[in-house]
Amino acid sequence: MEIKEKIKDLAKQKKAVILAHNYQPPEIQDIADLCGDSLELSIQAAKTEAEVIVFCGVHFMAETASILSPDKTVLLPKPDAGCPMADMITPRALKKKLSELSPMPVVTYVNSPAAVKALTTICCTSANAVKVVESLEEDELLMAPDRNLARYTAARTDKKIHLWEGYCPFHDRLTPEQIQKARDAHPGAVFMAHPECRPEALQMADVIASTSGMIRHAKESKHTAFIVGTEVGLLYPLKKANPGKSFYPASPAMECTDMKKITLADVAESLEHLTGEVKVPEDIRAPALNAVERMIALR
Ligand code: 13P
Ligand code: SF4
Repeated sequence: MEIKEKIKDLAKQKKAVILAHNYQPPEIQDIADLCGDSLELSIQAAKTEAEVIVFCGVHFMAETASILSPDKTVLLPKPDAGCPMADMITPRALKKKLSELSPMPVVTYVNSPAAVKALTTICCTSANAVKVVESLEEDELLMAPDRNLARYTAARTDKKIHLWEGYCPFHDRLTPEQIQKARDAHPGAVFMAHPECRPEALQMADVIASTSGMIRHAKESKHTAFIVGTEVGLLYPLKKANPGKSFYPASPAMECTDMKKITLADVAESLEHLTGEVKVPEDIRAPALNAVERMIALR
């Protein structure tokens, strides 16, 4: 039997839903029940009636699904698919930083470990960071772990934002020179950038958006050519949703190794034997749930 059919059959047998992030390889996106950005996938994980969630993404995403759906089996088909940015913060380091600041709320990017979410006030994603910060009563806060998302947000609010020195190695490496080179090669193309990019890259952007925000923008835009300033996996759903329009990577070096780890064989294996389960322990899950639910309630 063809592997894609095998996955479909297994998913039916196990009452499973397959969720995939927009950066996943094309063949994984094609077999998924839903592809999306971090916010959309969290919302879907919270409301699905499936008994098993197969999360084709990275570890923090599967943890978020487990936080929201403790009675479901959450599977990450490649257990070592992590996020280098999420690894740049630990509960211990966060506690230390907080002890050095006056009492203030903490906004955590979903790209963080569950144990860090458990210590924080509210989560955010790249799609809702400004809205989340504006929802707080306090005028001063700490935002972690992405310094670039924090700077992007700080420029759009009057609140004082303290930074954590974390970053996505793939977005942070995009330089103004690379953007200019892409612009010279594709004159007139719209430059879309993800808030995980550095401020000097964002300054050059025509549009700043989450991954799904970019897909929506390209669909609605009258323009037909786009330079894409995010992980290169997004080119596939952009092209799929916009036949007839052209998309060019701002830099081919923006490829996240962890987002490319899961194969169709891994999905089949994980479904068949329920391997790669991610389960957040209850003492972490309960406080982390507050932070995630508070974010979801805002939409
Ligand atoms: P979004 O899809 O939420 O924009 O996130 C990007 C990302 O880096 C996920 O790891
Ligand atoms: Fe983490 Fe960056 Fe990869 Fe997203 S693209 S999973 S932020 S390392």
